[in-house]
Order: sequence, then C-alpha cells, then structure tokens
Amino acid sequence: MSMSLVTLLYLLASVCFIQALKGLSNPRTARFGNAFGMAGMLIAILTTIALIVRQATALGSGLAVGLGLLMGALVIGGAIGAFVAARVAMTRMPELVAAMHSLIGLAAVCIAYAVVSEPSAFGLAPAGREMPYGNRIELFIGTFVGAITFSGSVIAFGKLSGKYRFRLFQGAPVVYSGQHLINLLLAIAMIGFGAMFFFTQAWLPFIVMTIIAFALGVLIIIPIGGADMPVVVSMLNSYSGWAAAGIGFSLNNPMLIIAGSLVGSSGAILSYIMCRAMNRSFFSVILGGFGAQAGESAASGASEQRPVKAGSADDASFMLGNAESVVIVPGYGLAVARAQHALKELTDKLAGKGVDVKYAIHPVAGRMPGHMNVLLAEAEVPYDSVFEMEDINGEFGQVDVVLVLGANDVVNPAAKTDPKSPIAGMPIIDAYKARTVIVNKRSMAAGYAGLDNDLFYMDKTMMVFGDAKKVIEDMVKASS
Ligand code: TAP
Repeated sequence: MSMSLVTLLYLLASVCFIQALKGLSNPRTARFGNAFGMAGMLIAILTTIALIVRQATALGSGLAVGLGLLMGALVIGGAIGAFVAARVAMTRMPELVAAMHSLIGLAAVCIAYAVVSEPSAFGLAPAGREMPYGNRIELFIGTFVGAITFSGSVIAFGKLSGKYRFRLFQGAPVVYSGQHLINLLLAIAMIGFGAMFFFTQAWLPFIVMTIIAFALGVLIIIPIGGADMPVVVSMLNSYSGWAAAGIGFSLNNPMLIIAGSLVGSSGAILSYIMCRAMNRSFFSVILGGFGAQAGESAASGASEQRPVKAGSADDASFMLGNAESVVIVPGYGLAVARAQHALKELTDKLAGKGVDVKYAIHPVAGRMPGHMNVLLAEAEVPYDSVFEMEDINGEFGQVDVVLVLGANDVVNPAAKTDPKSPIAGMPIIDAYKARTVIVNKRSMAAGYAGLDNDLFYMDKTMMVFGDAKKVIEDMVKASS
C-alpha cells in the first residue's frame, strides 16, 4: 500500500468522523452520524493494519508476531467492549464513558513510554541517537495530559457509579485548605520535570513527571462533586482527545492527530455548552467544591416538613384529558423507570382527545447529554413535538397543565429565586409558570444536586407519588 493511498484513506476516515459529529448534533440525523463514525473507524483501523504490514514487510521481520499481537488485542478489546456496551443501562452510560476515557489516557501514556524507550522503532531518530527536541515536547505533553485523563477519569467513574465506599469515590467533593495552591505547585513541578526531560531525554524526570500527572488527575477531580460531574466527564473526554493528538504528532500519524483534535475540540465545546446550561463558569467547575454546598442544602432541605397536595393517577389523567395544552417535562426518573413507551401511549391518547401535547427538554436533564432526546426517540415520539428549553420557556404562561415526570433539579425555581442556592442562575424549565403542575416522583427525595424544590409545595402543584412507569400506565388506563 503506497503512502499516498494511506493518506487518502486517512482523509476519507477523517471526513467520515466530521460527518459523524455533524449527524450526531440532531436526533433526526443521529443514526447516519453513528453509521459515518463506524465507517470512519473501520477505514482507519484497516488502513493502520495495512500500514503495519507494509512497514513490517519492509523491515523483513516481526510481521507474524506483530500481526498476531494486533489481532489478539483487537479481538480481546472488541469482545470486552461489545460485552460491556450490550449490558450497560442507559442511566449508567456516563460512568462507562468515563471508564473509556481513562483507557484512552492510559494508552497515550503507554505509547509515549514505548517511544521514549526506543525512538528508532518509531522512526524518530536513528538507533542510538537522541530524539529531536520537538518530539520530546509532544511526548511530554501527550504523557501528562494522558496521565491526568487516566487518573481523573477513574475518580469520575467512581463518583458517577456511587457504588464504592472509598472516600475519593463519594459524590461529595473532597476539599481541604490550600488545595488549589498544592495543585498549582504540583503543576509547576510537573512542568519543571517535563523541561528537564526536554533538555536531557533522561528517564528519571520523565517518570517523576508522569507520577505527578497521575496524582494531579486525582487531586483535580476530587474537589468536584454533585451537579458538576457531567461537565467533568466531557472535559476529560476533551483531554483524552488532546492526549491522542499529542501522541499522533510523536508517531507522525495524521489519523490520530485529526481524530484526537476532533474529540478534543468537540469535548471542549460540549463542556462549554453544559456550563452555560448550568450557568457555571468553566473555571468555577474545575476549581470545584460545588457539591459540598449542595449536600449541605440538601441536608437542611430534607429536614423541612411542608405540606404538599397529593393526588392519584386517575386525578392526573382527568386533569390532562380536560386541558387544551399540556407540556411534558421528562427527567432522570423517567429514564430509571423506563417509562418512555407508556408515556408515548399516554400522549397518543391525549392527542386523540384533541389536547396539544409538547415535550420540553432541559440540556442537562437525565445523566448524559441528550439523554431525554434519546429516550423519547426510542419511543418514537415525533421530533416536531420535542422542544429545547429556550424554545419553549416563553410559552409556559399559557400552558394549562405541565406534567413533570421524574425531573427535579431542572424545574427547581430556586435557581431563579434564591441567590444563595447552589444552582442559582442555572437556567431551568419554567414549569412553575403553568396554570397547573402535576409532578410524578416516588417520594419527596431530592434530585441530583441534593436540593429541596419549592415547585412541589406550590398551590397549583399536585404530586402523584409512585414509580413513573406504573403511574403513567395507570393514567393510560384511566384515560381509556
Ligand atoms: P434529578 O434532579 O436527578 O431528579 C430526578 C428525580 O427523579 C428524583 O428527584 C427522583 O425522586 C425521581 N425518580 C427517580 N426514580 C424514579 C422513578 N422510578 N419514578 C419516578 N421518579 C423517579 O433529575 P433531572 O431533573 O433530570 O436533573 C438532572 C440532574 O442531573 C441535574 O442536576 C444535572 O446537573 C445532573 N446531571 C446531568 C447529567 C447530564 S449531562 N444530563 C449528568 C450527570 C448529572 P424520587 O427519588 O422521589 O423518586
């Protein structure tokens, strides 16, 4: 295979990746986006295998062993990936993504160590000679970004899964005095050792620099907690892309550089969009401590005993059937209950009675970007009845009934009314402005940010307690 054909195929794969990102930006085109992404990855993998075969043949040795190792890794890695992806519940997706990012970071570190130990094998310098200075910078950056991505993603995985007792894996932030100063000093030391590696190409500063980067990954993520975790995951996604791009420069591999930069920049853009959706500045997120406040408020909110109006699924069904306009606000609880199909059945019934039904989606509803869109698409809810928060918020004053299903933080008016609230300033879905509000959840428990919600105590609000699927199925029955 000639080098110009390799370049052409890598270019084709890159175009597929760009089309994939474009397709994934809209639910209507998401399937095409996925298909493009898979096609691009197939082209990239096959081209890389062909390239390795070509190089090994030119060297005249090692082809069988190299191919055997490569195929073995592809089969084992592919099988583990398929097994895990097939079993993972949609609600556990963010932690799976965090685990995947950790592997990308670790892979970048491993490749960098292989390059430093034998630069000639990667064509960076003749055997026994030192690497050019430019490659040393690329390796230094790729390694420390990869190491931070690895250890940071492991902590993010632990915090998101919430299954482990280990203190660092708890959702609440770990904060201590002098935290930012310590992180800053460590970052300076890491760069100092990187500079020593740059001038000497010696192992010791390279290893010390990597160890500090692993520690920094942990220390940067532990003070972040609560509602900021989604931003952290997409930020680590971005880091993993930049680590791959850095290593791509060292290996002189344009595919890694392009794919890494696409992941790096799209992750950074997604982090920015999510920060805006939560009205948080990127720096306040990465400096952390947010969940601590949320936890404290939750504790105080949970002790409060205020009266609420509760009703049954039959009451809710009656109110919905008599409304002219209904807006549904889905949240994390709808996903947990897997109630999307029952919901589609309910809204079909309402539409049959002439009720105007719309869905309002908050950008961080659920536990991953686009979570609610995916859920509704699964149930084949028509895209033209699904509205983003900013497109529907202006209508709530004229809406007869808002049906909040397993959502909490994204409809919490404290974001607007309480400047001291940890979510103050976060844009919310203005459900509280509707004439009547029906909220379904299992109890008065707090949502992800750990906060009490005034919407539940308003005069116009009726709580319908129970699992979302059961409650919606009962509403369907009652509306027949
Ligand atoms: P939350 O604020 O987490 O509230 C979900 C509510 O669903 C809970 O209060 C819970 O109350 C209820 N619930 C749970 N299981 C249920 C079931 N089976 N049936 C009915 N209700 C059930 O959800 P939200 O409003 O969607 O907000 C999302 C939150 O997650 C935000 O704080 C966001 O920052 C954060 N977050 C978002 C992401 C992304 S990227 N979307 C990722 C991680 C975190 P009960 O226990 O009383 O039932």
